[in-house]
Amino acid sequence: MEILQTVLATEIVCVLRYTMHAVTASGISSDSVRAEFAEHAREEQEHMMMVAERINQLGGKPDFNPDGLASRSASQYAEGANLVDMIRENLVAERIAVDHYRELIRYFDNDDPGTKAMLQDILRKEEEHADDMHDLLVAHEGTPMLKS
Ligand SMILES: [Fe+2]
Ligand SMILES: [Fe+2]
Repeated sequence: MEILQTVLATEIVCVLRYTMHAVTASGISSDSVRAEFAEHAREEQEHMMMVAERINQLGGKPDFNPDGLASRSASQYAEGANLVDMIRENLVAERIAVDHYRELIRYFDNDDPGTKAMLQDILRKEEEHADDMHDLLVAHEGTPMLKS
């Protein structure tokens, strides 16, 4: 259950980060980037709901307390100084989430097939998010900062 609380915190931080970026991204050709950030924010919110509902189903209490949220999360809340910075921060966060969720899927293996299946669904989406951010970074910076 403690582990699912870290997933919940990670998703909440993703919602906050993408929402902040969707509102504040500016500069040349930022419209399409803002739209992408907004779409990701919505999808992270779906993940947040899935995880919260799973914790509830398992008899736990989803931890939405903003106190300590950042330390429960696997990824960071980073504002980014400009458009390319924002994209890069999201790419880093998505890759951390992907690594974290892959590890958890191995951990949950046969003990909890329901939770494992949910994490696999979420992981697929995070992999897409990472690809999206990678492509945006290439488009806006010219070369990817991080290798896949
Ligand atoms: Fe997510
Ligand atoms: Fe994501």
